[in-house]
Amino acid sequence: MKKDIRPTAQSDIIKSKGGYPHFMLKEIHEQPSVITNILNTYINQTTGHVTLPDEILFLSTVPRIIISACGTALHAGMVAEYWLEQIACIPVETDTATEFRTREAPMSSDGAALFISQSGETLDTLEALRYAKRKDQKIVSLLNTTESTIERESHHIIHTLAGSEVSVASTKAFTAQLTTLACISVGLARKKNVISESREKQLTSALRKLPSRITDFLKHDEKIRSLASEISKARGVMYLGRGTAYPIALEGALKLKETSYIPAEGYTSGEMRHGPIALIDNDMPVIMIAPFDDLFDKTVSNTKEIVKRSGKVLFISDKRGIEKLKDIATWTIEVPEVDPFVAPILYTLPVQLLAYYTAVVKGTDIDQSRNLMKSVTVE
Ligand code: G6P
Repeated sequence: MKKDIRPTAQSDIIKSKGGYPHFMLKEIHEQPSVITNILNTYINQTTGHVTLPDEILFLSTVPRIIISACGTALHAGMVAEYWLEQIACIPVETDTATEFRTREAPMSSDGAALFISQSGETLDTLEALRYAKRKDQKIVSLLNTTESTIERESHHIIHTLAGSEVSVASTKAFTAQLTTLACISVGLARKKNVISESREKQLTSALRKLPSRITDFLKHDEKIRSLASEISKARGVMYLGRGTAYPIALEGALKLKETSYIPAEGYTSGEMRHGPIALIDNDMPVIMIAPFDDLFDKTVSNTKEIVKRSGKVLFISDKRGIEKLKDIATWTIEVPEVDPFVAPILYTLPVQLLAYYTAVVKGTDIDQSRNLMKSVTVE
């Protein structure tokens, strides 16, 4: 008997590279339109206010939000921890789903847990969700697909609107998660009455400027292409960042590992002195994610320490930051100036492109990295 074909929201999967050599590059270039779409969904273009779906506003009153996820999605959650705590004054605890589901953390019954997943099918994230549910947490999930298992088992869903992502190495789904989480943080802060109207407008205006800044940046990737051949020779690469740049350091290292198979690790710049500094030599490039923010001077001091130990530093910052370090850094990548609030979203672009072009130099199977699956549904 012929089965009916039921169209789903995933029926938009058009497996065309649209003229790009790889899906990963196509998906990197889709980010300005994905972000615009999300901002148009949550930010009122006239007033600059964030409007969140009513059913998640309760998050502004919970004593704590647990965020859990795997891989790239976990890094988005780690950035959100800074935003939710600093902007919305909501205590947050972030943990990888693989550990969260087994470490038996006590939870008060009025808490909430937020799960982030591109696919909605990652088994470890699903098991972490089930654990939190057994502990009476209200479950909110941030998903890029529809009709997934995580969607069915959650109390509330927010979709990240990135469209289908084909490349195993996640790019646009990550910045879509970040943009959505940025809007949620501002919306909850407003609901909680912990930011002024003018501060809300300042933050939403910073978000709305992002797509054009990213488009500008994507037009000039020649420098990253040439740096990729340097990075491709490295025996290992260290990524450093502080504050919200720390999860981007982790994400940069993950992208490089996933696509180029070069050993890469991310650390907080502050932690560098407590061990990783022993790795620094001429063969181990250090990539500093250095937004020009309140923590910038500390980053400068870390960079000087690395250079003193014959380390090679690739310094990613804006014009103001690069001006201060151009004589010390081995290489620089200049990104457009943005409000520090949105820096983790913008600074993701150079690390994605660097991983992509390094993989091109190495000649790896970029869209289907060896040993990896887009979604891990087994233990
Ligand atoms: C796999 C993929 C990663 C991804 C992770 C979480 O390990 O290789 O790229 O970040 O799963 O996937 P999810 O679909 O839950 O976001």
